[in-house]
Amino acid sequence: MTETFPDLMQKDFSQEDIIAMLGATSDDEIEVIRSAAEKVLLENCGNEVYTRGLIEASNICRCNCYYCGIRKSNKNVERYDMKVEEIVDAALWCVDHGYGSMVIQAGERHSARFIDRIEEALKQIKQQTRSEELPQGLGITLGVGEQTPEVYRRFFEAGAHRYLLRVETTNPDLFEKIHPSGQTLETRIDCLNSLREVGYQVGTGVMIGLPGQTLEDLANDILFFKRQDIDMIGMGPFIPNEETPLGRELCPDVCVRMNLALLMIAVTRLVLKDVNIASTTALEALDPEGREAGLRFGANVIMPLMTPQSVRRNYLLYPGKPCLDEDLLASRTALEKSINSVGREMVANKWGDAVHFKKRNLNKGETTS
Ligand code: 5AD
Repeated sequence: MTETFPDLMQKDFSQEDIIAMLGATSDDEIEVIRSAAEKVLLENCGNEVYTRGLIEASNICRCNCYYCGIRKSNKNVERYDMKVEEIVDAALWCVDHGYGSMVIQAGERHSARFIDRIEEALKQIKQQTRSEELPQGLGITLGVGEQTPEVYRRFFEAGAHRYLLRVETTNPDLFEKIHPSGQTLETRIDCLNSLREVGYQVGTGVMIGLPGQTLEDLANDILFFKRQDIDMIGMGPFIPNEETPLGRELCPDVCVRMNLALLMIAVTRLVLKDVNIASTTALEALDPEGREAGLRFGANVIMPLMTPQSVRRNYLLYPGKPCLDEDLLASRTALEKSINSVGREMVANKWGDAVHFKKRNLNKGETTS
């Protein structure tokens, strides 16, 4: 450990401290950061890992992001759109199998038909999932991209209480490089602000190892999460997809991206302390043990794929997506095993809100389960 290495238990990390931690390369240094992150996690959030069944409701998307496999102009994708009943059935499946929360994710669309359908699915899920075990019904996280404040409000009133919208990177030049003109970082940040105003528990995140991305960029991403008072973080390694423009550009080697993604989780945990951090599918796509590694480095949420088998392979954001053929029930058992294997506990029938969100709502007298 070098003399300039920062104190890992401090409250106010500088950009310099964060860059030093993200730049760790020796196994010893990485282990020191990992175990400190684990300690901070256990102290602030406890031993529980929250699970959410992830439903990818549609791969139709109006956007043409340069990295994403389901971008509008990828003609190799067979598009699908789950019906309201299908989304509700998937939600009921989650409840029957002990999941207290689900995530509904879909490509971004603004049509009234799409918005109405998501709203209707949310309402029906809430109506049909209240029980003694889940008095407020199934917890629902939504991720359908940039929408107007009015639409965010409608979804909130229909029953979604958490929302995920990644900024992808907080470097405006890099953001511009990986998105077509018309998409801006400013709009993303405006959306995060309006989600927060509506009352959501707000999640964001970035991709790690993008072509041209620096440690300084990643350190600024973490400082942004803190400044923005974010509740939930979902981030993972960039995985080049050959069917996209960015998939053909040079990016760091796979080991470098994987290590950096894990360090990002650990350092985000050290800096933000009480937020929920997901161990994402992209980690698992690069390494069969990536999900467990994410937990060991400070993540406390797992979102196993529950999209019906018939359409699952059409939601390919990047190659190597895990679980394409796995049986859903088997994966629930496997999930509990993998959580236990890193000394943590899986919880059933719980929303699993971020401690950070509960704290910031204490004064408002709001209740969450
Ligand atoms: N590699 C890694 N993550 C990706 N995403 C999309 N494409 C890729 C890729 N090629 C992530 C983005 C997006 C989320 C739904 O998936 O961060 O916000």
